[in-house]
Amino acid sequence: MSSEIEKARHALANASKPMSFSGAGLSAESGIATFRGDNEHALWSQFDPTQLASQHGFKKDPKLVIDWYNWRRKSLANAKPNAAHTTLGKQRGWLHVTQNVDNLLELGGAAGNQVLHLHGTLLSDHCNAQCGYKESIALDNPPALRNCYKCGNPMRPSVVWFGEALPEDILNQAANATSVTDLLLVVGTSAQVYPAAGLIDIARQHQATIVIVDPEADAVGQKGDILIREMAAKALPCLFAR
Ligand code: OAD
Repeated sequence: MSSEIEKARHALANASKPMSFSGAGLSAESGIATFRGDNEHALWSQFDPTQLASQHGFKKDPKLVIDWYNWRRKSLANAKPNAAHTTLGKQRGWLHVTQNVDNLLELGGAAGNQVLHLHGTLLSDHCNAQCGYKESIALDNPPALRNCYKCGNPMRPSVVWFGEALPEDILNQAANATSVTDLLLVVGTSAQVYPAAGLIDIARQHQATIVIVDPEADAVGQKGDILIREMAAKALPCLFAR
C-alpha cells in the first residue's frame, strides 16, 4: 500500500468532523460523463456551455436545452452507484457536499440530510420566472419543454446555470461545515468552478487535512495535501477499509 494511502487512512480514521467535497469524477465510473478533460466524452468538449447551461442559451433555444437535460436524465436513469458512492454512503456522521446533479450518493446509502447539492439536481424542474412552482421529474420519462402550471412561464431543470447564484442556504451550510471540518476528502473535481471550489480554500485556511482522490490529483492539490492519484471507485473502499 502506498504511503499516501496509509496517511489518508490514518487521517480519515482519526477525523472528528469529516466531510467530502465531490465533482463529476465521483460518478464517472457509473457511466456519467465528466465536464472537462481530454476524453472525447467530456461534456464541455462536445457541447457549448453558454448554449446549454445559461439563461441566455435557454431564452435563445429552450427546446434544445430541455432536450439536452432530458438526454442526461435518461442516462442517469440507467446508472447505478459505484463503489465510491456506496463507501461514502456507509459513513455515518459524514457530510457530503457535491457539485453533482445526480442522485447517486443517496442511492449509494447516504441519508438525504447528509448530502448538499451545490449545483442543484436533475430530479426536479422549477418555473424559470421563479414563481415558486416546482415539480419532481421521473428520470426515465422526463417531460418535454412545457410551461409553468401556475404562471405560464417556461419550466426548467433545477440546476445552477453559468451566471446564476448558488442556492444561498445550501452554500452557507456547506461553507459553515467546511470552516469547522478537520478533514476534507476531495473526490473527482477539477476545482475550476467557483464559488464551489472555494470550499477547498476555506478548509485550507482552517488547517483541515485535505485528502484528494483524482487520477489528475496534481492539478487540484497543493503542498501538504495528501494526493491519491487513483479512480474513486478503486481508492475509496481502500481508504475506509478497517
Ligand atoms: P470536471 O469535469 O471539471 O472534473 C472532473 C474531475 O474528475 C477531473 O479532475 C478528473 O481528473 C476527475 N476524474 C475523472 N474520472 C475520475 C474517477 N474515476 N475518479 C476520480 N476522479 C476522476 O467536473 P467538476 O469539477 O465536477 O457546473 O465540474 C465542476 C462544475 O463544472 C460542474 O458541477 C458543472 C460544470 O460546469 C454546473 O453545471 C454549474
